[in-house]
Amino acid sequence: MVTISVIKADVGGYPGHHSVHPDLIKAADQVLRGAKENGLLTDFRILACGDDLQLLMTHWKGCDNSEVHGMAWEAFLRATDAAKNLKLYGAGQDLLSDTFSGNIRGMGPGIAEMDIEERPSEPIVVFMADKTESGAWNFPLYKMFADPFNTPGLVIAPGVHMGFEFEVYDLFEKKKVVFKTPEDSYDLLALIGASERYVVKRIRTKDSKKVAAVTSTESLHLIAGKYVGKDDPVAIVRSQHEFPALGEVLEPFSFPFLVKGWMRGSHHGPFMPTSFEQAHPSRFDGPPRVIAAGFQMNNGYFVGPVDLFKDPSFDRARQKANEVADYMRRHGTFEPHRLGMSEMEYTTIPAVLDKLKDKFVPI
Ligand code: F6R
Ligand code: MG
Ligand code: MG
Repeated sequence: MVTISVIKADVGGYPGHHSVHPDLIKAADQVLRGAKENGLLTDFRILACGDDLQLLMTHWKGCDNSEVHGMAWEAFLRATDAAKNLKLYGAGQDLLSDTFSGNIRGMGPGIAEMDIEERPSEPIVVFMADKTESGAWNFPLYKMFADPFNTPGLVIAPGVHMGFEFEVYDLFEKKKVVFKTPEDSYDLLALIGASERYVVKRIRTKDSKKVAAVTSTESLHLIAGKYVGKDDPVAIVRSQHEFPALGEVLEPFSFPFLVKGWMRGSHHGPFMPTSFEQAHPSRFDGPPRVIAAGFQMNNGYFVGPVDLFKDPSFDRARQKANEVADYMRRHGTFEPHRLGMSEMEYTTIPAVLDKLKDKFVPI
Protein backbone atom coordinates (compact mmCIF):
# COMPACT_ATOMS: atom_id res chain seq x y z
CA MET A 1 0.00 0.00 0.00
CA VAL A 2 1.32 3.42 -0.89
CA THR A 3 0.78 6.23 1.58
CA ILE A 4 -0.13 9.75 0.53
CA SER A 5 0.75 12.21 3.31
CA VAL A 6 -0.19 15.86 3.15
CA ILE A 7 1.28 17.78 6.07
CA LYS A 8 1.02 21.57 6.27
CA ALA A 9 1.86 24.44 8.54
CA ASP A 10 2.02 28.20 8.63
CA VAL A 11 5.60 28.88 9.69
CA GLY A 12 5.72 32.49 8.58
CA GLY A 13 4.04 34.75 6.06
CA TYR A 14 4.89 37.79 4.01
CA PRO A 15 3.72 40.42 4.16
CA GLY A 16 1.69 39.64 7.27
CA HIS A 17 -0.40 36.51 6.80
CA HIS A 18 -0.51 36.83 3.02
CA SER A 19 1.87 34.43 1.24
CA VAL A 20 4.65 31.89 1.60
CA HIS A 21 8.07 33.31 0.64
CA PRO A 22 10.04 31.24 -1.92
CA ASP A 23 12.89 30.85 0.60
CA LEU A 24 10.61 28.74 2.82
CA ILE A 25 9.74 26.49 -0.10
CA LYS A 26 13.46 26.19 -0.90
CA ALA A 27 14.30 25.28 2.70
CA ALA A 28 11.58 22.62 2.86
CA ASP A 29 12.57 21.36 -0.59
CA GLN A 30 16.10 20.61 0.62
CA VAL A 31 14.82 18.43 3.44
CA LEU A 32 12.28 16.57 1.29
CA ARG A 33 14.79 16.13 -1.53
CA GLY A 34 17.21 14.55 0.95
CA ALA A 35 14.45 12.24 2.17
CA LYS A 36 13.70 11.20 -1.39
CA GLU A 37 17.40 10.55 -2.08
CA ASN A 38 17.75 8.38 0.99
CA GLY A 39 14.62 6.42 0.11
CA LEU A 40 12.29 7.57 2.88
CA LEU A 41 10.04 9.35 0.40
CA THR A 42 9.06 8.02 -2.99
CA ASP A 43 7.99 11.42 -4.29
CA PHE A 44 6.92 14.87 -3.11
CA ARG A 45 5.53 18.22 -4.19
CA ILE A 46 5.64 21.46 -2.23
CA LEU A 47 2.80 23.91 -2.73
CA ALA A 48 1.46 26.97 -0.94
CA CYS A 49 -1.99 28.32 -0.20
CA GLY A 50 -1.94 31.81 1.30
CA ASP A 51 0.58 31.69 4.16
CA ASP A 52 0.47 27.90 4.49
CA LEU A 53 3.32 25.67 3.37
CA GLN A 54 2.03 22.38 1.96
CA LEU A 55 4.11 19.20 1.88
CA LEU A 56 2.59 16.55 -0.38
CA MET A 57 4.48 13.29 0.01
CA THR A 58 4.29 9.63 -0.93
CA HIS A 59 6.03 6.69 0.71
CA TRP A 60 5.55 3.03 1.66
CA LYS A 61 5.76 3.48 5.43
CA GLY A 62 2.06 3.77 6.26
CA CYS A 63 0.10 6.52 8.00
CA ASP A 64 1.45 8.03 11.21
CA ASN A 65 5.02 6.98 10.45
CA SER A 66 7.42 8.64 12.88
CA GLU A 67 10.28 8.93 10.35
CA VAL A 68 8.06 10.68 7.81
CA HIS A 69 6.47 12.91 10.44
CA GLY A 70 9.88 13.71 11.93
CA MET A 71 11.24 14.65 8.52
CA ALA A 72 8.22 16.91 7.86
CA TRP A 73 8.78 18.54 11.27
CA GLU A 74 12.41 19.10 10.29
CA ALA A 75 11.28 20.71 7.01
CA PHE A 76 9.05 23.10 8.96
CA LEU A 77 11.94 23.92 11.33
CA ARG A 78 14.23 24.71 8.37
CA ALA A 79 11.48 26.82 6.77
CA THR A 80 11.05 28.59 10.12
CA ASP A 81 14.78 29.41 10.10
CA ALA A 82 14.36 30.88 6.61
CA ALA A 83 11.37 32.90 7.84
CA LYS A 84 13.37 34.16 10.83
CA ASN A 85 16.28 35.18 8.57
CA LEU A 86 13.93 37.42 6.61
CA LYS A 87 12.04 38.55 9.72
CA LEU A 88 8.86 37.26 8.12
CA TYR A 89 5.61 37.47 9.99
CA GLY A 90 4.67 34.82 12.55
CA ALA A 91 7.83 32.74 11.98
CA GLY A 92 7.27 29.29 13.42
CA GLN A 93 3.67 30.21 14.26
CA ASP A 94 2.09 26.76 13.95
CA LEU A 95 4.89 24.79 15.62
CA LEU A 96 3.33 24.59 19.05
CA SER A 97 5.91 22.30 20.59
CA ASP A 98 9.67 22.54 21.03
CA THR A 99 10.52 18.92 20.57
CA PHE A 100 9.34 16.24 18.21
CA SER A 101 8.12 13.16 20.02
CA GLY A 102 7.40 10.61 17.34
CA ASN A 103 4.18 11.89 15.78
CA ILE A 104 3.42 15.32 14.40
CA ARG A 105 -0.27 15.08 15.41
CA GLY A 106 -1.21 17.52 18.12
CA MET A 107 1.92 19.61 17.54
CA GLY A 108 0.27 22.26 15.38
CA PRO A 109 0.65 21.22 11.71
CA GLY A 110 -2.39 19.81 9.87
CA ILE A 111 -2.20 16.24 8.59
CA ALA A 112 -4.22 14.25 6.05
CA GLU A 113 -2.91 10.79 5.17
CA MET A 114 -4.27 7.76 3.37
CA ASP A 115 -2.91 4.28 2.65
CA ILE A 116 -4.15 3.12 -0.73
CA GLU A 117 -3.87 0.18 -3.06
CA GLU A 118 -3.27 2.17 -6.24
CA ARG A 119 -5.93 1.36 -8.81
CA PRO A 120 -5.00 0.76 -12.49
CA SER A 121 -5.60 4.50 -12.80
CA GLU A 122 -5.68 6.66 -9.69
CA PRO A 123 -6.82 10.28 -10.02
CA ILE A 124 -6.74 12.26 -6.77
CA VAL A 125 -7.40 15.85 -5.75
CA VAL A 126 -5.62 17.58 -2.88
CA PHE A 127 -7.62 20.53 -1.57
CA MET A 128 -5.78 23.18 0.43
CA ALA A 129 -7.36 26.13 2.24
CA ASP A 130 -6.33 29.34 3.94
CA LYS A 131 -8.20 31.45 6.54
CA THR A 132 -10.61 28.76 7.64
CA GLU A 133 -11.04 25.68 9.86
CA SER A 134 -11.26 21.95 9.15
CA GLY A 135 -15.07 21.94 9.32
CA ALA A 136 -14.97 23.84 6.03
CA TRP A 137 -14.76 20.48 4.21
CA ASN A 138 -18.05 19.19 5.70
CA PHE A 139 -20.27 20.92 3.18
CA PRO A 140 -18.35 20.04 -0.01
CA LEU A 141 -17.65 16.44 1.12
CA TYR A 142 -21.34 15.89 1.80
CA LYS A 143 -22.16 17.29 -1.63
CA MET A 144 -19.55 15.11 -3.37
CA PHE A 145 -20.34 11.83 -1.66
CA ALA A 146 -23.98 12.05 -0.59
CA ASP A 147 -25.91 14.63 -2.64
CA PRO A 148 -27.24 13.32 -5.96
CA PHE A 149 -27.99 16.89 -7.08
CA ASN A 150 -24.21 17.41 -7.01
CA THR A 151 -23.11 13.87 -7.89
CA PRO A 152 -25.44 12.22 -10.38
CA GLY A 153 -23.19 9.15 -10.15
CA LEU A 154 -24.97 8.33 -6.87
CA VAL A 155 -28.08 7.74 -8.96
CA ILE A 156 -26.82 6.57 -12.35
CA ALA A 157 -23.36 4.99 -11.87
CA PRO A 158 -23.49 1.40 -10.56
CA GLY A 159 -20.08 1.71 -8.83
CA VAL A 160 -21.13 4.75 -6.79
CA HIS A 161 -24.82 3.92 -6.36
CA MET A 162 -24.40 2.07 -3.04
CA GLY A 163 -23.35 5.22 -1.19
CA PHE A 164 -20.52 5.78 1.26
CA GLU A 165 -19.74 5.86 4.96
CA PHE A 166 -18.66 9.03 6.75
CA GLU A 167 -16.43 8.96 9.83
CA VAL A 168 -17.16 12.10 11.87
CA TYR A 169 -15.01 13.46 14.69
CA ASP A 170 -16.42 15.33 17.66
CA LEU A 171 -13.50 17.71 18.21
CA PHE A 172 -14.75 18.85 21.61
CA GLU A 173 -15.28 15.43 23.20
CA LYS A 174 -12.58 13.65 21.14
CA LYS A 175 -14.98 10.91 19.99
CA LYS A 176 -15.88 9.57 16.57
CA VAL A 177 -18.96 8.09 14.94
CA VAL A 178 -19.68 6.49 11.56
CA PHE A 179 -22.74 7.21 9.39
CA LYS A 180 -23.79 5.45 6.22
CA THR A 181 -25.35 7.37 3.37
CA PRO A 182 -28.01 7.60 2.11
CA GLU A 183 -29.67 5.78 5.05
CA ASP A 184 -28.18 7.91 7.87
CA SER A 185 -28.08 11.18 5.89
CA TYR A 186 -30.30 13.17 8.22
CA ASP A 187 -28.34 12.14 11.32
CA LEU A 188 -25.10 12.94 9.52
CA LEU A 189 -26.38 16.39 8.51
CA ALA A 190 -27.62 17.05 12.04
CA LEU A 191 -24.03 16.86 13.21
CA ILE A 192 -21.86 18.17 10.40
CA GLY A 193 -23.94 21.32 10.03
CA ALA A 194 -22.21 22.32 13.28
CA SER A 195 -18.87 22.48 11.59
CA GLU A 196 -16.79 23.95 14.40
CA ARG A 197 -17.42 20.82 16.48
CA TYR A 198 -18.25 17.91 14.15
CA VAL A 199 -15.91 17.37 11.23
CA VAL A 200 -15.78 14.73 8.53
CA LYS A 201 -12.47 12.92 9.02
CA ARG A 202 -12.75 10.11 6.50
CA ILE A 203 -15.06 8.70 3.85
CA ARG A 204 -14.99 5.07 2.72
CA THR A 205 -16.86 2.86 0.29
CA LYS A 206 -19.51 0.92 2.19
CA ASP A 207 -18.75 -2.59 0.98
CA SER A 208 -14.99 -2.79 0.48
CA LYS A 209 -14.11 -0.02 2.99
CA LYS A 210 -11.76 1.62 0.51
CA VAL A 211 -10.76 5.06 1.71
CA ALA A 212 -12.27 7.72 -0.55
CA ALA A 213 -11.35 10.94 1.26
CA VAL A 214 -9.48 12.12 4.32
CA THR A 215 -9.12 15.55 5.91
CA SER A 216 -6.86 17.27 8.42
CA THR A 217 -8.82 17.83 11.63
CA GLU A 218 -6.18 19.49 13.80
CA SER A 219 -7.66 22.47 15.61
CA LEU A 220 -4.99 24.97 16.60
CA HIS A 221 -7.09 26.68 19.26
CA LEU A 222 -8.09 23.36 20.84
CA ILE A 223 -4.41 22.34 20.98
CA ALA A 224 -3.11 25.70 22.21
CA GLY A 225 -6.13 26.69 24.34
CA LYS A 226 -6.10 30.12 22.74
CA TYR A 227 -6.21 31.77 19.33
CA VAL A 228 -2.92 31.17 17.51
CA GLY A 229 -4.09 31.37 13.89
CA LYS A 230 -6.44 29.34 11.79
CA ASP A 231 -6.25 25.63 10.99
CA ASP A 232 -6.24 26.19 7.23
CA PRO A 233 -7.04 22.54 6.56
CA VAL A 234 -6.29 20.13 3.71
CA ALA A 235 -8.20 17.21 2.23
CA ILE A 236 -7.29 14.36 -0.12
CA VAL A 237 -10.08 13.00 -2.32
CA ARG A 238 -9.89 10.01 -4.68
CA SER A 239 -11.85 10.27 -7.87
CA GLN A 240 -13.44 8.35 -10.77
CA HIS A 241 -14.77 4.81 -11.11
CA GLU A 242 -16.08 3.77 -7.66
CA PHE A 243 -15.62 7.36 -6.43
CA PRO A 244 -17.18 10.60 -7.67
CA ALA A 245 -15.95 11.80 -11.08
CA LEU A 246 -13.41 14.60 -11.05
CA GLY A 247 -16.08 17.14 -12.01
CA GLU A 248 -18.37 15.84 -9.24
CA VAL A 249 -15.50 16.34 -6.77
CA LEU A 250 -15.03 19.96 -7.89
CA GLU A 251 -18.68 20.93 -8.37
CA PRO A 252 -19.43 21.87 -4.70
CA PHE A 253 -16.97 24.75 -5.01
CA SER A 254 -19.03 26.39 -7.77
CA PHE A 255 -21.01 27.77 -4.82
CA PRO A 256 -18.89 29.99 -2.54
CA PHE A 257 -20.47 28.80 0.72
CA LEU A 258 -19.73 30.61 3.97
CA VAL A 259 -16.93 29.38 6.20
CA LYS A 260 -15.45 30.52 9.50
CA GLY A 261 -11.97 31.99 9.83
CA TRP A 262 -11.76 35.24 7.89
CA MET A 263 -9.94 38.19 9.55
CA ARG A 264 -8.49 37.27 12.94
CA GLY A 265 -10.13 33.88 12.67
CA SER A 266 -13.29 35.63 13.81
CA HIS A 267 -15.48 36.19 10.77
CA HIS A 268 -17.65 34.28 8.33
CA GLY A 269 -16.74 34.77 4.71
CA PRO A 270 -17.24 33.11 1.33
CA PHE A 271 -14.92 30.23 0.42
CA MET A 272 -13.33 31.42 -2.81
CA PRO A 273 -11.91 28.80 -5.22
CA THR A 274 -8.85 30.19 -7.02
CA SER A 275 -5.86 29.20 -9.09
CA PHE A 276 -2.58 28.58 -7.25
CA GLU A 277 -1.31 32.00 -8.26
CA GLN A 278 -4.43 33.72 -6.94
CA ALA A 279 -4.34 31.95 -3.58
CA HIS A 280 -3.06 35.05 -1.81
CA PRO A 281 -5.76 36.39 0.50
CA SER A 282 -5.40 40.16 0.69
CA ARG A 283 -8.80 41.84 1.14
CA PHE A 284 -9.55 41.96 4.87
CA ASP A 285 -7.02 39.10 5.12
CA GLY A 286 -9.17 37.05 2.81
CA PRO A 287 -11.70 36.11 1.72
CA PRO A 288 -10.90 32.49 2.68
CA ARG A 289 -9.28 30.60 -0.18
CA VAL A 290 -9.36 27.07 -1.52
CA ILE A 291 -7.13 25.57 -4.20
CA ALA A 292 -7.36 22.13 -5.81
CA ALA A 293 -4.31 20.23 -7.07
CA GLY A 294 -5.13 17.31 -9.34
CA PHE A 295 -2.80 14.34 -9.81
CA GLN A 296 -2.68 10.93 -11.38
CA MET A 297 -0.75 8.61 -9.10
CA ASN A 298 1.81 6.40 -10.82
CA ASN A 299 3.24 3.69 -8.55
CA GLY A 300 3.70 6.19 -5.76
CA TYR A 301 4.82 9.04 -8.00
CA PHE A 302 2.80 12.21 -8.48
CA VAL A 303 1.89 13.00 -12.08
CA GLY A 304 0.91 16.65 -11.77
CA PRO A 305 -0.22 18.93 -10.20
CA VAL A 306 -2.89 20.36 -12.42
CA ASP A 307 -4.31 23.63 -11.08
CA LEU A 308 -7.98 22.61 -11.16
CA PHE A 309 -9.65 25.90 -10.25
CA LYS A 310 -7.67 27.68 -12.96
CA ASP A 311 -10.72 27.41 -15.14
CA PRO A 312 -13.08 30.16 -16.33
CA SER A 313 -16.00 27.96 -15.28
CA PHE A 314 -15.17 28.96 -11.68
CA ASP A 315 -15.15 32.70 -12.54
CA ARG A 316 -18.77 33.04 -11.52
CA ALA A 317 -18.04 31.44 -8.13
CA ARG A 318 -15.24 33.97 -7.62
CA GLN A 319 -17.51 36.82 -8.68
CA LYS A 320 -20.26 35.63 -6.35
CA ALA A 321 -17.69 35.31 -3.57
CA ASN A 322 -16.75 38.95 -4.07
CA GLU A 323 -20.42 39.99 -3.92
CA VAL A 324 -20.92 37.95 -0.75
CA ALA A 325 -17.73 39.46 0.69
CA ASP A 326 -19.12 42.97 0.10
CA TYR A 327 -22.42 42.01 1.69
CA MET A 328 -20.84 40.37 4.73
CA ARG A 329 -18.36 43.22 5.25
CA ARG A 330 -21.23 45.71 5.54
CA HIS A 331 -22.06 44.09 8.90
CA GLY A 332 -18.83 45.38 10.44
CA THR A 333 -18.36 43.74 13.83
CA PHE A 334 -21.93 42.46 14.00
CA GLU A 335 -22.89 38.81 13.87
CA PRO A 336 -23.30 36.80 11.74
CA HIS A 337 -20.32 38.30 9.88
CA ARG A 338 -18.45 38.14 13.16
CA LEU A 339 -18.60 34.65 14.66
CA GLY A 340 -20.94 33.92 17.59
CA MET A 341 -19.81 34.38 21.19
CA SER A 342 -18.90 30.73 21.87
CA GLU A 343 -16.65 30.64 18.81
CA MET A 344 -15.08 33.95 19.80
CA GLU A 345 -13.93 32.32 23.02
CA TYR A 346 -10.46 31.82 21.58
CA THR A 347 -9.98 35.36 20.34
CA THR A 348 -9.65 38.73 22.02
CA ILE A 349 -13.19 38.70 23.42
CA PRO A 350 -12.25 37.07 26.77
CA ALA A 351 -9.73 39.86 27.37
CA VAL A 352 -12.36 42.52 26.62
CA LEU A 353 -14.90 40.82 28.91
CA ASP A 354 -12.32 40.50 31.62
CA LYS A 355 -11.51 44.19 31.42
CA LEU A 356 -15.22 45.04 31.72
CA LYS A 357 -16.09 42.62 34.50
CA ASP A 358 -16.06 45.22 37.29
CA LYS A 359 -18.22 47.60 35.28
CA PHE A 360 -21.11 45.14 35.20
CA VAL A 361 -23.85 45.59 37.86
CA PRO A 362 -26.89 43.32 38.41
CA ILE A 363 -30.08 44.25 36.55
C1 F6R B 1 -4.30 34.73 10.04
C2 F6R B 1 -5.48 35.59 9.98
C3 F6R B 1 -5.27 37.04 10.07
C4 F6R B 1 -4.73 37.49 11.41
C5 F6R B 1 -4.67 39.02 11.50
C6 F6R B 1 -4.07 39.49 12.79
O1 F6R B 1 -4.60 33.41 9.86
O2 F6R B 1 -6.56 35.14 9.84
O3 F6R B 1 -6.49 37.69 9.79
O4 F6R B 1 -5.52 36.97 12.44
O5 F6R B 1 -3.89 39.52 10.43
O6 F6R B 1 -2.85 38.88 12.91
P1 F6R B 1 -1.87 39.15 14.17
O7 F6R B 1 -2.70 38.88 15.40
O8 F6R B 1 -0.77 38.16 13.93
O9 F6R B 1 -1.46 40.57 14.04
MG1 MG C 1 -0.25 33.20 9.32
MG1 MG D 1 -2.94 30.45 6.89
